[in-house]
Amino acid sequence: MSSSLMWSVGALALSSLVSPAAAAAKESYQLLENWHGDTFWDGWEFFDSPDPTNGFVTYTNQSRAEDTGLIDITSRGSLYMGVDHKSKLDPSGPGRESVRLETKGFYKEGLYVLDLAHMPGSICGTWPAFWSVGPSWPEDGEIDIIEGVNKHDSNKIVLHTSGSCDVGGGHEMLGDMSSGECGEASGTIGCVVKGKKGSSGDPFNKQGGGVYAMEWTEDFIKIWYFPRDSIPPSITDGHPDSSTFPTPMAHLQGSCDIAARFKPQKFILDTTFCGDWSGNVYGDSSCPISDSSNPMQSCVNYVAENPEAFKEAYWEINSIKLY
Ligand SMILES: *[C@@H]1O[C@H](CO)[C@@H](O)[C@H](O)[C@H]1NC(C)=O
Repeated sequence: MSSSLMWSVGALALSSLVSPAAAAAKESYQLLENWHGDTFWDGWEFFDSPDPTNGFVTYTNQSRAEDTGLIDITSRGSLYMGVDHKSKLDPSGPGRESVRLETKGFYKEGLYVLDLAHMPGSICGTWPAFWSVGPSWPEDGEIDIIEGVNKHDSNKIVLHTSGSCDVGGGHEMLGDMSSGECGEASGTIGCVVKGKKGSSGDPFNKQGGGVYAMEWTEDFIKIWYFPRDSIPPSITDGHPDSSTFPTPMAHLQGSCDIAARFKPQKFILDTTFCGDWSGNVYGDSSCPISDSSNPMQSCVNYVAENPEAFKEAYWEINSIKLY
């Protein structure tokens, strides 16, 4: 079927078509989405079902969140997304009210730029996350971009997918890679990069937050954190040029076929309490223990009985841009 002539003609046509486009795509990203203030509701919606991660949380709908002040557009035009920090609760009743937002659509390879003025602080019982997931888990992949629990002060990046997917190619990064296997071959651990101290929680907020960026291509996923005082000028002026960014927090690239293992993703922003991660490690987190035989119950008791502890458990988002 395939003569050598056809092959060489095909290769020639392909190279003349692909090269300039590929070069252009590398050098300049086009703005596809710019969510900020009220425009969030163009692209994002409320998830108000029971928490799939089994948290002591009640995710509210939009009208309830607006009525109770859990969600607000600030005078600076940013989006405030907090939790109920006023009600004392019965530990055996429904969980603390919070918000979980999800994109209406699914998004693929690109450059994601999240500008945060504040994220939930280093607070016992909390589990905030900015992450994405494909329609079918784990085959379509999951990317945990910002995540932490309890008294966290450094970000934990985790990717999950099916089979074996090795991203531990030895690339330079600022974070600590403790596992390079994102697939089920590593069990449920996934591939993991821990960022430096200050990349989440209280110290993140003290420096005015900053920008998280994720570049997702067919070959790699890179994640950067830029503190407020060192955001690259190309991001600030709206024409991000990743080739000029400094070393990323995480550079996930190896033999894994990223294009095949990470399908279009729905993005999610939430704050939950206790549950599968925060609750399970609560006993090791130097947090108040009320039931020494049951760390999860201690977590739930703490979250139920100490509303004032959760005043700082809010996200303040200047913008989320997708290029
Ligand atoms: C939103 O939630 C509140 C409180 O749970 C409920 O009373 C109300 O009917 C809901 N509104 C909509 C539009 O579903």
